[in-house]
Amino acid sequence: MSNKIIKNSKIFVAGGAGMVGSSIIRSLQSHGFENIIAPPRDELDLFNRHEVKEFLGEIKPDQIFLAAARVGGIETNSNNKHLFLYENLLIQNNVIYEAHKADVENLIFLGSSCVYPNNFQTPIKEEDLMQGPLEESNEGYSLAKICGIKLCNFLSSTSKKRNYFSVMPCNLFGLNDNFSPKTSHVIPALLRKFYQASKNNIESVEVWGTGNARREFMYVDDLADACVKLMNSETFYNVINVGTSKDIKISQLVEHITKITGFNGKVIYDSSKKEGTMRKVLNTDKIRKIGWFPKRNFVDELKYVYKNAEEKNLLL
Ligand SMILES: NC(=O)c1ccc[n+]([C@@H]2O[C@H](COP(=O)([O-])OP(=O)(O)OC[C@H]3O[C@@H](n4cnc5c(N)ncnc54)[C@H](OP(=O)(O)O)[C@@H]3O)[C@@H](O)[C@H]2O)c1
Repeated sequence: MSNKIIKNSKIFVAGGAGMVGSSIIRSLQSHGFENIIAPPRDELDLFNRHEVKEFLGEIKPDQIFLAAARVGGIETNSNNKHLFLYENLLIQNNVIYEAHKADVENLIFLGSSCVYPNNFQTPIKEEDLMQGPLEESNEGYSLAKICGIKLCNFLSSTSKKRNYFSVMPCNLFGLNDNFSPKTSHVIPALLRKFYQASKNNIESVEVWGTGNARREFMYVDDLADACVKLMNSETFYNVINVGTSKDIKISQLVEHITKITGFNGKVIYDSSKKEGTMRKVLNTDKIRKIGWFPKRNFVDELKYVYKNAEEKNLLL
């Protein structure tokens, strides 16, 4: 069994400036963990194996959260499969393998529900991994994530001193999300689109797909709390799902967003555009058994994220 993480243990959060990484840092701090290290990209480039090796050899963290990745919505994923595969493999291989070589005992890798087979029976269990073909639009990203999951599995099976495992979150949203029109996920993309349409009195807004695809959305702080809880879990899971186990149609999300942004025009669904997998709800029995459950209300958090983004001029 690896060492327990205590209040002054050294915790390295890779990708600490991102939406998930920054939320993990907030959750760790609120649980009293004080010794958190999260260098920004210009101080530690995770593409550079030598930098990663030197850093981990010097710091020797007790725990790593690997939340650094190339991440993005359906458009950028499907247009840049090569980059999503290559860059994510680079980051993961560097951090996971160099952590092993530096004798780091504990590592939590952020996977994604995208790794599961496309349009598979739901709710999807952890055991369903690799039981069917992937959704093609994010194949590069998913393949990289599967390699990261397996690298953690293989290292953990080599030694009791390697507690490396993967958390599989559903679709997330929250503070520090990416609002770029080219690379954002569906929630920030629609918040921005409908905000602009509302402010400029535009008559109609186009939404990709039929509106019938369903997504399981969770506020990122619920995921972060799960990660912190899993850090000292008595039970070892190679892979563990974290989600609400409830999904909504994209058209329902659009209804919430039109209300929040005050958009009164017409919504046009463009079914010629990609909409990804039609349904993917996670079975979360395993994480619920250890006493975690999502606490935040979807619509309240959506309003909060919108207000925050508006105040920070992220919707312009
Ligand atoms: N967002 C979701 O809905 C979602 C859902 C399921 C799983 N996840 C997983 O959660 C993790 C974090 O996602 P996120 O949404 O927080 O993404 P994010 O906001 O884009 O954050 C990613 C972070 O990785 C950093 N990074 C990327 N390449 C780097 C490099 N070469 N060197 C150093 N840092 C680098 C970025 O740094 P910069 O700030 O410098 O760019 C950023 O801080 C990912 O593994 C993702 O697959 C996310």
